[in-house]
Formats: sequence, C-alpha cells, structure tokens
Amino acid sequence: MAAFVSPNPQFCKRFSSTKTATTSAAAFFSKPSQISPNFNLERAKPSFLVRCSIRSSAPPISTLKQSCPRPEYIPNRISDPNYVRIFDTTLRNGEQSPGATMTTKQKLDIARQLAKLGVDIIEAGFPASSEADLEAVKLIAKEVGNVSPEGADGHVPVICGLSRCNKRDIDKAWEAVKYAKKPRIHTFIATSEIHLKHKLKKTKEQVLETARSMVAYARSLGCPDVEFSPEDAGRSDREFLYEILGEVIKAGATTLNIPDTVGILVHDEFEQLIADIKATTHGIDNVIISTHCQNDLGLATANSIGGAIAGARQLEVTINGIGERAGNASLEEVVMAIKCRGEQVMGGLYTGINTQHIVVTSKMVEECSGLHIQPHKAIVGANAFAHESGIHQDGMLKNKDTYEIMSPEDIGLLRSNESGIVLGKLSGRHALKAKLLELGYDIDGKELDDLFPRFKSVAENKKNITDEDLIALVSDEVFQPQVFWKLGDV
Ligand code: KIV
Repeated sequence: MAAFVSPNPQFCKRFSSTKTATTSAAAFFSKPSQISPNFNLERAKPSFLVRCSIRSSAPPISTLKQSCPRPEYIPNRISDPNYVRIFDTTLRNGEQSPGATMTTKQKLDIARQLAKLGVDIIEAGFPASSEADLEAVKLIAKEVGNVSPEGADGHVPVICGLSRCNKRDIDKAWEAVKYAKKPRIHTFIATSEIHLKHKLKKTKEQVLETARSMVAYARSLGCPDVEFSPEDAGRSDREFLYEILGEVIKAGATTLNIPDTVGILVHDEFEQLIADIKATTHGIDNVIISTHCQNDLGLATANSIGGAIAGARQLEVTINGIGERAGNASLEEVVMAIKCRGEQVMGGLYTGINTQHIVVTSKMVEECSGLHIQPHKAIVGANAFAHESGIHQDGMLKNKDTYEIMSPEDIGLLRSNESGIVLGKLSGRHALKAKLLELGYDIDGKELDDLFPRFKSVAENKKNITDEDLIALVSDEVFQPQVFWKLGDV
C-alpha cells in the first residue's frame, strides 16, 4: 500500500511548485488509458500536490580524523613535523589557464574564501605583470592579509606575490604584499639546461649569481619570508640544483619550492627528487621544502603526495586544479588525500584546511574563472558522490562505506538524497524503493512489482530520471484518484 510518510516543510514547498513539470512528466509516463478517451472524469483530480519526504536516516557522521591545531607561522620552520602547509596559487598559476582571467573584485572574493578555507599561503598574483595585478595583490594584502575570517580561529594567511629574479619584479612584488601581516615574495629563475640555453641564454654561473643576489635583495627590502623556485627543477641537472638551492638558503630564502614545471616526472621520480634534495642540499634543515606539480601527465596530485611523503611541508595547489596547460595539483584532491590517508600511509601528515568549505570554494572558482568542472572530477565533480549501478546502489543502501571513502558532508556537500543514488537503467528494485521512500512514497509488494518494469522501460529511454518523473510514475501507477463521478453513458 502506498503511504504518505511524514511531512517535511522543505519538500512540501518544493513540490507545491512542481505542478507543471510533474504534469508533463506524467504525460511521458502515462500508460494506455483504460477509460473513455473522450471524457475522462476519473483523471480530473491531481494527486501530486502534497508530496512530502524525509531523510531515511541522519546525515552520516564523518569518520575522518579531525585536524590538530595549526602551528604558529614561522617562515622557515614548522614546530609540528607532521603539519603540511597548503599554498594556493589559484589567483596566480590558476589565472594562467587560457581564458580564466578574473576581475579584481572576483580575485578579492576568492582570496576571502581561500582564507575561510584555511589555506596557509595565498599566492595572490604576479604584481610586475600588470598594473591591475599589482593593485589586486595590494588590495588582497590589505583586506585579506590582515583579518582572520569568522570561524578561522585567528588564522590570517600569508599573502605572496610572484616575481622573476630581477629588481623591478621584486620591488613590485614587495610594493604589493608589504601591507599584509605576513608578506612573502616568491622569486624564480629557470635552472634546466633547455631553459638556460633557449630561453634565458645564460650560463649556470650567471643563473646561480642572479638567484643568490635576488633572494638577498628581496630580504634586504625588509621582507622576512622569501620563497625561491628553480623553474623546471624536474629536468634540471641535480648537482646544479643542489648547488643553487644551497646558495639561496645562505642568501636568506625561507622556502625552497621544487617545480615540475612541465609535469614530466612520475610519482617515484618526484618523490626521489625531494628525498635527494633533502638529503644533499646544504642548510636544507633551516628551510621548508615545497612542491609545485603541473598536471601534464595527470600525475600532479600523486606527485605532490609523494613529495610530502619524502619531506616537503608545503604543497602548491589550485582550486579545481586549474592552471597553465593541463593545470596544477588540485587543492581538494591533495587535501582530501591527506585527510583520508594521512594517518595510515603518510605517517600522520595533516593540513589546516577546513574541508567543509571545499565545495563552496570550488563553485566560486568555477564561476569566476569560467572553467567548468568535469562531472567525474575527483572530490568536486557532480558525480563524485553519485551511484548509478544497481550493485553499487544496493551496497550504498546497506552501508555507505561499501562505495564511499569519505562523506559528502566532509567537503560541505549536502546531496539532495541521502544515499547519493541516481536512478538509471542499471538501478535495481532496492534503489527504486529507497528513492521513492525519500520522496514520500512507501511502496512495497505488488505495487513495487508493477512499478518496477515501467520504471525500467522509462530509464532505458531517458538519460536523467528526475524526482518529478518518479512522482509522475507513482501517481500514474499507484495514486489513481478516488472516483467521485463516473460517466455512465453519453
Ligand atoms: O610552473 C612553474 O614552474 C611555476 C613556478 C614559477 C613556480 O609556476
């Protein structure tokens, strides 16, 4: 027997305004009428206006480890060896995605959201690249770099500006970031043979001297926090890399970032690179090692995690993985990998990210950058918590751990149905029954048996089965209206 389950004002409100959609879906589903085609009084009373639903159980409680408190920020040292800093470069490398240019207002909004999300460092732009970027970074330094957002436990992010290794760039970067409570200059120069020969047209000695002197120059301006990147480190000669890194440490660098600029290294190679730098570079214990992995082979997240396992304590990432060419390691993937597996397979690594802000931040970046997220994107894709096959749906209904390694609530997602079930042609009876229960229909036995083949035939012909479609199907199959008048003859 179909029964009305329980009133829920939210659902009542939703369905009271779905008459049109439901009616048209009813037409799609309707079985051949057994009544006179000319005058059908039996179908005159709509039965779908008051459909209420409840969740069948409380939202799942996260089983993931809660983060420990964030250690106090000291540029070149982290008091807790397991804490991993998250450096977000959505506004710099992310904006280098073709077509992703953002307005100053959008950048400021995103920076505020990144602060709420709890990133440790915001790379707000490349001030020497344009007057607009200079002003945007300055604004972010003033507005975001001095206040702790509500609920962030006093945390204020570092505001960083990128610069090439020359005085003009460094001056611009400092001019922009100096207003922040915790300013940082990030300066870089290429170190690979191919870049030296074809792009810079400089010798190793010249590059080494430029790097050393420009890091010292950035410190001399009064900037207490200077990051150095040997661009294309992944393809650079190892001995030269150790040498230049050792020299910039002596010159005052506080973070050494190791970019795999062209995303060529595979996981083991990148992990080994970080391990070798850690083992070989003079003075490395006095600085933070960082990763910057581009995603040309789709390995950026894996490589960043490998870097962290090898000792990197800053990971450079972007929201939704946007960035130059195939993008960067994505913040949500890296952070959730550490959150889900840090305890078990990374020796207890953790970050200070409030993961419940991930979805909102991802949507905001999608909107502002115009770069749409593929539906099957890990963590934030539309299908990341959707279950389509009958076997999976059955498992989900019995226990969510069967097919989900994290709960959507962990990233701030409230899905419209409790079990993430998306009905389709592969769905089974169990899923259909559960979904109908969420919509307020407790259907069993013969009614379910009758309904199921009709649902299957619709699902085979229609890509997306909506709630309204199901309501129409039930209305048509089960909720035939009570007969008040019946036409005997005309
Ligand atoms: O990809 C890269 O090498 C960079 C550096 C400037 C860090 O973006």
